[in-house]
Amino acid sequence: MWKGRFQTETSNLVQRYGESISYDWRLYAYDIEGSIAHAAALQDAGILTKTEERTIARGLREIKKEIESNEFRFKTSLEDIHMNIESALTEKIGAAGAKLHTARSRNDQVALDTRLYCRAESKAILNRLSAMQNSLLSLAVKHPEAVVPGYTHLQRGQPVLFAHHLLAYIEMLERDKDRIRDGHRRINVMPLGSGALAGSTIPINRNIVAEKLGFTAITQNSMDAVSDRDYIAELLFDISMIGIHLSRLSEDVIVWASAEFGFIELSDAHTTGSSLMPQKKNPDVAELTRGKSGRLIGNLMTLLTTIKGLPMTYNRDLQEDKEPLFDSIDQIKLALDVFTEMMQAAKIREDRTLAAASDPFLLATDLADYLVLHKVPFRDAHEIMGKLTAYSIKEQRGFSELSLDEFQQFSAAFEGDVYRVLDVTTALKARKAVGAPSPTNVSRQITRWQKRLSTQKPL
Ligand code: ARG
Repeated sequence: MWKGRFQTETSNLVQRYGESISYDWRLYAYDIEGSIAHAAALQDAGILTKTEERTIARGLREIKKEIESNEFRFKTSLEDIHMNIESALTEKIGAAGAKLHTARSRNDQVALDTRLYCRAESKAILNRLSAMQNSLLSLAVKHPEAVVPGYTHLQRGQPVLFAHHLLAYIEMLERDKDRIRDGHRRINVMPLGSGALAGSTIPINRNIVAEKLGFTAITQNSMDAVSDRDYIAELLFDISMIGIHLSRLSEDVIVWASAEFGFIELSDAHTTGSSLMPQKKNPDVAELTRGKSGRLIGNLMTLLTTIKGLPMTYNRDLQEDKEPLFDSIDQIKLALDVFTEMMQAAKIREDRTLAAASDPFLLATDLADYLVLHKVPFRDAHEIMGKLTAYSIKEQRGFSELSLDEFQQFSAAFEGDVYRVLDVTTALKARKAVGAPSPTNVSRQITRWQKRLSTQKPL
């Protein structure tokens, strides 16, 4: 492609070192789509005749078919997807093919391809996030009454509905969707026409390209356009955050699936056995997801580190953006798919959740609140309940097994109605402030999500 200036061939080692075709071939459809749009702008500018434009488009579509049917021979010597396609086109249609690269550089071309790729993959991720939310929602709907202890510090805290715990993840995933939607606005800007860094002296109408490719805006600074990778960094962050959310859910699932908790039973299809211990049923999917989230964060760090020291404008370092990007996209899509399937097929063991939620100490805070409602300042109530808890542990009798006399030894504010507080159902019902897990609130939230998820617009 640059034979004019050079007298010796590129060293084989340099070819091997610098090639990106082994992975950027994946951009072929976007490269072709972009070139067809570019040809239309060249025709409009009088550089191509209408016949040449048509010949180019036909040739490019043929190449697309060849790639998709595995007939295309990618050449490492041609470095990347852009040069592989351009060279094949010229071989196929001759002179017209050699005109296609007018007013374009690989710098704006790769920016365009990557933006098209990120745009399509953002949609794919968004759809999967919704599917994942639906899967969690369906599990919540199947077990609307299951009560579990809610934990802080992984110590039993207060009773909640299992559905409330699942809905927490639906909230997190919704924020992930918001981030993807927001990032999409910055991805959806058309960079072609920026040339190598300073546009072109050939006056082409960039709006034609933007319109053909469905972009809502075009970049306004050619130097920024060829060196900007912010949108990739943002997408990699968004993906890392999704990964972190899935990783936290993984941790919950792993704990829930343990014999000690036993809150959840994963289906055989989503667990694996041990080659040594015949009794094992391991939550590998969750463990892999927890593990892969580290890799997603790593990919984000890779890109940020690549960009941070770059002078303006395009530098070859930027070729290193693609492997982390492709990897994060592939991994997060798989993780969301497999998690969606696994949660759909999971069963909550309500006998176990109920047994755990019957721990009387879960209601210690409710008893403190009871004292507050009987005019005891909260700090005093807290201390009274601390002492009462120690007493109950020493006596090996739960709160409801203590006599009113015993209660009153700790505070005169206790009355006969104290036993009414000592019931999980009552305790849950009382939590009715917005965002709290009363059964009425939770069922309203379920309805809200059902409506919201079924009416949400795609990107
Ligand atoms: N394969 C290159 C990349 O991914 C395309 C742009 C090459 N531009 C250049 N001036 N060498 O970044």
